[in-house]
Amino acid sequence: MEEKQAVSRKILDFLQQEGINPEILKQIRAFLDAHPAGNPDRIPTPRYAYYGNEIWEQALTAILCGKNLLLAGGKATGKNVLAQNLAALFLRPMWNISLHVNTDAASLVGTDTFQDGAVTFRPGPVYECGAQGGFGVLDEINMAKNEALAVMHAVLDFRRSVDVPGYGSLELRPETRFLATMNYGYAGTREMNEALASRFAVIAMPTISQDNLERLLSEQYPNLNRKTRGLLAGLFFDLNKKCLNSEISTRALDLRGLLDAVDLMGLGLNPAAALDMGITNKSFDPYERQLIHDMIAARIPSKLRCDQVFDR
Ligand SMILES: Nc1ncnc2c1ncn2[C@@H]1O[C@H](COP(=O)(O)OP(=O)(O)OP(=O)(O)O)[C@@H](O)[C@H]1O
Ligand SMILES: [Mg+2]
Repeated sequence: MEEKQAVSRKILDFLQQEGINPEILKQIRAFLDAHPAGNPDRIPTPRYAYYGNEIWEQALTAILCGKNLLLAGGKATGKNVLAQNLAALFLRPMWNISLHVNTDAASLVGTDTFQDGAVTFRPGPVYECGAQGGFGVLDEINMAKNEALAVMHAVLDFRRSVDVPGYGSLELRPETRFLATMNYGYAGTREMNEALASRFAVIAMPTISQDNLERLLSEQYPNLNRKTRGLLAGLFFDLNKKCLNSEISTRALDLRGLLDAVDLMGLGLNPAAALDMGITNKSFDPYERQLIHDMIAARIPSKLRCDQVFDR
């Protein structure tokens, strides 16, 4: 438990250094004093910090106000990283609930099960989360059918209760919050029901800023030399600009892919090839692929070797 408390303090220090409003920090401390930490095995230890002060302030204020949060934005904008950081900061056990077309009420709330010759209730993640005052991450919420999510209405609004037919209802512990994530408009997603959306405070997750991307690269890859860091961040923002101008699709604008490429370089793969694997080849249109390949070649010479990318 001390370990998790240390992580929470570290995130609080980070927020202070970032210049987050001191009033918010004071309220976080008050929350921590008022709500003892939950089951430590379920409190996450985030691998990455989330960068972006405005978003931090919006998210923290909503949580402190008792709201549920919907993080909406493109791929790899740090939605799950932020959710993990919030659970770790507030010392809340976290449930990751991945939603999909076959999600139904029983898989969220719980279901009857046969045990030792008797029918008993096996709680689902939403029930557990509410009973233990956790943070429930409803991942990719717009992949689920709206009918399946109707059961969440009472959970997410002022009633704050989980109804289980035949077993009565559970009142959520006061520190319980639900954090939903969604990519809008991607294949397999649906239009989110208005009644559901109305139960969340919504944050439009932006693409990371260029400064923050450079910081992220230097945090995650301390060996990566400064010049390469600049080149990679520049490349990402070239792609971003082309996407905004609709010259290329958003397929190749993939921060996760960029970071994967740096991992591959770390194991000795040629940087240009690594970037093709992480970025270029995410596009399946030959014309677009060539365009992206050329953009990368303009910044990262194909002769560049991985030992020129890292300071050893
Ligand atoms: N603002 C940011 N601060 C820190 N890391 C970020 C930020 N934006 C993106 N990342 C990085 O992008 C990667 C993906 O983050 P994450 O998995 O949270 O994205 P996501 O928004 O949930 O994506 P998806 O919609 O594809 O699930 C991580 O390596 C994360 O560190
Ligand atoms: Mg995600």
